[in-house]
Amino acid sequence: MIKKIKVKSPANIAFIKYWGQKDNQLIIPYNDSFSMNLSACLTYLEGEILENKEIKEVFIKDYKKENFLKANTEILNKIISFYSTAKKFLNSKKDFGFRIYSKNTFPKKSGIAGSASFFSALALFFATAFEKKLNQKQLSILARLSGSGSACRSIPDGFSWWRKGNNNETSYAYSLAPPNFWDLRDLVLIVNPQEKKVGSYEGHQQATTSFFFKFRLKELKKRLIMIKKAFFKKDFSLFGQLLEEDALSMHIVMMTQRPPLYYWSEKTFSLIKKIVELRKSGKMEGYYTIDAGENIHLICQKNDYQQFIDYFKEQPEILKIIDNQPSTGAKIIEII
Ligand code: PMV
Repeated sequence: MIKKIKVKSPANIAFIKYWGQKDNQLIIPYNDSFSMNLSACLTYLEGEILENKEIKEVFIKDYKKENFLKANTEILNKIISFYSTAKKFLNSKKDFGFRIYSKNTFPKKSGIAGSASFFSALALFFATAFEKKLNQKQLSILARLSGSGSACRSIPDGFSWWRKGNNNETSYAYSLAPPNFWDLRDLVLIVNPQEKKVGSYEGHQQATTSFFFKFRLKELKKRLIMIKKAFFKKDFSLFGQLLEEDALSMHIVMMTQRPPLYYWSEKTFSLIKKIVELRKSGKMEGYYTIDAGENIHLICQKNDYQQFIDYFKEQPEILKIIDNQPSTGAKIIEII
């Protein structure tokens, strides 16, 4: 019998974002999305499988903290509910207790997709603990059902495309290209490691109240086709322009939905201006994207990234820079 499973899974940064859910039970999005797995933003999860099925315990070690602390009731309930979803999805009669230890190499809930890395790792842990062999598509569907939709994009390797689909079987992510296809960098410019106040799940529910939402969906059709072409051609200027446009389009929806969500701070805006200025100067070519948080993701190519790091580490807004390359998806480290 399996006693312990160790897994790791990356966060991912979306070049084309998912915002709004057509079905908030099955987490079916309104549009396809496209992301890259991040080599330096990882969740390491170690789960013990216990015969006493009453024990359901989760301990989390936050970024830069010394000790593992018991997860709060809200998180624990989400995990227990995902355990039931996984059992049903996997059609398993088995029941078990678990004690989970999870740690991140980056601050969570600050726009670096901590829930994607955590829930994709958890999906892999549950599938293995229920002793079901899933293919990548099925594992991606299971990760999507966790409630953090973008977790499905952390399952395949490298660059992931989440096909929106229209039901449980047809909405999943697959690898558009392996990590070594294009040496893009995502420099996460951390201006605030504090947790955000409104989580994505609540935010998704109000997306359609924005007057801009319908327009976003319409223009997304073109953008999705164009970015795929730019990606395969490695046309970085067009690729960057499209990913920036998409980040802005998502944030316009966020800011105009009711109640509005403003994730940006003055520091976010100040960095946006610096990235655009550097680009205009012709010295370095980088593009920004922002998730549900105030930290910025600067996307650049290998030839510019060291210069960007040297520049941004001197900027007063920045507390830390996380340097990411494209990475593999969720993986089992060890089964004991
Ligand atoms: O994965 P969720 O359901 O928590 O939603 C997060 C969505 C964004 O990170 C804001 C955008 C994206 O596509 O990653």
